[in-house]
Amino acid sequence: MRKIIEPLKMKDTARAEFDGWAHKYDRSILQRFLFKPSHDLIMSEIDSGRHVRILDIGCGTCVFAFRMASQFPYSSIFCMDLSCEMVGKAKKKLDLAVTAGGAGTVKIKIADSEHLPYASNSFDYITCSNSFHHYPRQERVAREMHRVLKPGGRALIVDGFKDNIVGRFIYDGIVEWLEGDVRHLNSGDFKELFGKAGFSPVKHRNNFKGLPIMMVVATAKK
Ligand SMILES: C[S@@+](CC[C@H](N)C(=O)[O-])C[C@H]1O[C@@H](n2cnc3c(N)ncnc32)[C@H](O)[C@@H]1O
Repeated sequence: MRKIIEPLKMKDTARAEFDGWAHKYDRSILQRFLFKPSHDLIMSEIDSGRHVRILDIGCGTCVFAFRMASQFPYSSIFCMDLSCEMVGKAKKKLDLAVTAGGAGTVKIKIADSEHLPYASNSFDYITCSNSFHHYPRQERVAREMHRVLKPGGRALIVDGFKDNIVGRFIYDGIVEWLEGDVRHLNSGDFKELFGKAGFSPVKHRNNFKGLPIMMVVATAKK
């Protein structure tokens, strides 16, 4: 049974966690063992041979966005995050990169994933790495993702894989104990949620280098 979480409380918990973590986030051991492999997985799904508009939701300090900017130099990359401190840190890095003559295509905003401050039908890809479990009203986020994607655009979401007993122990046990109010979905939940929001097909990949993560690839049908 799904536990009831008060949405504002859940957002406050996430904001406080990441405001507090922002100054040392880029040096976290998780960058190497969890976030980089997640970013690799998402990037393997992006067609780098043409100009694409990418929106990174829950961008954190934009480690991933800057990587995409250098790997896909002809793309436009837009980023948003709920935490002022994470965005503040990302903007400082952006200023330094622009001064040095790079990463000019990255644009960053403070926003809530439930209300994406972007025009409808404006992105080829939405990327979302290890952030979706922080959203209290995930069905609203899925609908917003569908709204801002172009017809045939794809949402690429990486989060914990909890389809088996090990995953449930990690995410419903350890991670919930560490992070407080979070909501990890299994692949069936993702399929249902994104199907209802207008995506088809909704596929998933797991077993990535043995890590307990999963990527959902959902195509916006319009
Ligand atoms: C574990 S970090 C991942 C950061 C980045 N995606 C990465 O892979 O390095 C999760 C991020 O989600 C953000 N977040 C949590 N709730 C959010 C919401 N409702 N809207 C937007 N961002 C949110 C947090 O502030 C945090 O920066």
